Amino acid sequence: MSLVYSLLIWFFILALTIYFLFKLAFVQSIAKSLLKKFLAWDTSRLAKNKAQQKDIQKMNQELFSSMEEVIEQVGGGPVLELGAGSCANLEHYPKGVRLMTIDLNENFKSYLNESLEKNKHVTLEKYLIGNVEDMSGLIADNSCSCVVSSLLLCCVQDQTKALNEIMRVLKPGGRFYFKEHIAAERGTWTRYAQETMNDTWAALRSNCNVTRNTDKVIGSFGFKGLTASIVYRPIPKMYFFAKKTYLGYADKPLT
Ligand SMILES: C[S@@+](CC[C@H](N)C(=O)[O-])C[C@H]1O[C@@H](n2cnc3c(N)ncnc32)[C@H](O)[C@@H]1O
Repeated sequence: MSLVYSLLIWFFILALTIYFLFKLAFVQSIAKSLLKKFLAWDTSRLAKNKAQQKDIQKMNQELFSSMEEVIEQVGGGPVLELGAGSCANLEHYPKGVRLMTIDLNENFKSYLNESLEKNKHVTLEKYLIGNVEDMSGLIADNSCSCVVSSLLLCCVQDQTKALNEIMRVLKPGGRFYFKEHIAAERGTWTRYAQETMNDTWAALRSNCNVTRNTDKVIGSFGFKGLTASIVYRPIPKMYFFAKKTYLGYADKPLT
């Protein structure tokens, strides 16, 4: 019994020490920086694994199959990838793409370099560290032929601000490609799990929210020619809460 008591006391002291350590600003900043490094490594690793799967490859290939034509139709211009991470989809971009990337997390750079090394048909024109909700001063109005958002709108603080920026930087007729996981139907077990875990998951995974209706937000934003479907990404079962995905594209109106 005394062993149980002493274990409990030591556990209590340890928990208290960790709690007070995390109250210290410098410990918090070290923890945050380690978490950002871990997220860059883990997100890139997962994206690489997914990109190698045949059915996901097919899905991405179809999604980006119109990119070459769109770039030509709007008279050229760079492709901007938002929340780019390691840019795991580059193999599906057409030859000669001038790429611009923006992400909040600078630790992705070496993983992005790996993707670029394997995809010499794409040239990195601009590498930006910044917030997609305000790209003014970084990216000019009406300058991009295409904008790509892959698992990004789940993470931003304000989806309307991000979509306003997408509309601003796209050339008229330019195309917005998206692949975003969305909330499950209300009343399902998956939705219950999503609501229960959302805050903890978001705190640990770059503010990734699993309860958002991004499909409705994109659908009501004023794009033209919205072409999208809901698919269940064939990702490992443990990510059941992020399988339902809204995938497609839409264009900035010409006027
Ligand atoms: C789930 S990861 C997706 C990475 C990559 N697009 C992919 O499909 O594998 C989300 C990425 O968005 C970035 N991010 C989150 N909020 C952002 C914001 N407001 N502005 C720019 N990047 C952001 C994160 O740093 C992270 O790299």
